[in-house]
Amino acid sequence: MEIRGLQKDLEAFSKLVTQRQEYMKQAPAEPDTVDPINELSRRMHPDRIVLVLKDVFDENETTRTFRFEAAPGGELPYFRAGQYLSLKVSVGDVLITRPYSLSSAPADSLSPDGSGGGVYDVTVRRKDGGFLTDHIWKTWRPGTPVVASGPHGNFYFEPLRDEREIIGIAGGSGITPFRSIIREMAAGGLDMTLTLLYGIVNPGDIIFGEELRKAADVHADRLKVFFVCSEPDDRWSGPAGFITASCIRELAGPVAGKSFFICGPPAMYRFLDGELKDMGIAQKRIRREVFGEYDDPAAEPGFPAETAAKTFSLKVRMGSQVAVIPARGDETVLVSLERAGIGPDSQCRSGECGWCRSLLISGNIHVMPENDGRRAADKKLGFFHPCSSYPLSNLEIQVPLTGAMAQ
Ligand code: FES
Repeated sequence: MEIRGLQKDLEAFSKLVTQRQEYMKQAPAEPDTVDPINELSRRMHPDRIVLVLKDVFDENETTRTFRFEAAPGGELPYFRAGQYLSLKVSVGDVLITRPYSLSSAPADSLSPDGSGGGVYDVTVRRKDGGFLTDHIWKTWRPGTPVVASGPHGNFYFEPLRDEREIIGIAGGSGITPFRSIIREMAAGGLDMTLTLLYGIVNPGDIIFGEELRKAADVHADRLKVFFVCSEPDDRWSGPAGFITASCIRELAGPVAGKSFFICGPPAMYRFLDGELKDMGIAQKRIRREVFGEYDDPAAEPGFPAETAAKTFSLKVRMGSQVAVIPARGDETVLVSLERAGIGPDSQCRSGECGWCRSLLISGNIHVMPENDGRRAADKKLGFFHPCSSYPLSNLEIQVPLTGAMAQ
């Protein structure tokens, strides 16, 4: 460091003042309202992205990949491999929001020359009688506009938080964020190793099978992929059964010093919770992807059967406005609010992001244990997440001023 002395510092400072006055004289009369930091943040985390469906690919009999590009004049925010988009789809009068993992690599979202051309892939499995997926299969064609927010979520490798060696467990369409992660690994973007155990019911359920096998061959030093089939046919020669603690040890080896990334249906999370606990895996080493709302909550273990068929009264306060609406016992409080055209906004719909966080003024709720992302302080103060909570009685709540209140 140079010590220049008081005299020199004062001389430099007086020059600085003159220089500053000169800049001020040259500045335009209109104030500069663009803050470059805020502008960058807005572009990376927009409230709303308008996508246009570019292509559709059949992955197997029940699964399709939808490839989107930005609407003209828009751009696709960059993301971290493993994150999801929150898609907002109108089916008739009902606006449905669902989180869907991005199955493409982050680099694919960048436009090669700044003139457009970046894409997002979202891979969706069609559900039997699924309200939303039926609509998607029937109506989404190249050119269809789709509104989204995001990318969101914590299901990505973070070296400051996660161990470098990862054991990934995917169930069914839960493979989608792993495809993004594997593509990013292949591109040299992630300094990690991955042993992936991919659970499927039938051999025909496999999604991205060829791509996963090829990536494991090419990157054998960093990536291993095992397909584990719970209902194999005669031709299946790989591991069979459920992904249990002994299956994990047999295929992935010692678990000490490794992090777990899990993405699949709620039943798989419940089962693995017990297995990982038996293996002595600390919660801080387990990362679970959000899965949205339950298809049939009343069929889930522990759901209060006595209130599932009831309809309660829900008094909603938003700022100075008050509304009283019906709330079904087998629907989340958030769905009841949306049916009545009332906010709040939502993203994960799994109790994780806190976007819909509201205050429970009176009444009782049931919170699904797998989706209970409330902080300890929030629980004490009465805050809850309408997206993961079901009414057990008449309720009075206060929702944030981010959404709309029906008139
Ligand atoms: S939408 Fe994320 S916590 Fe409710």
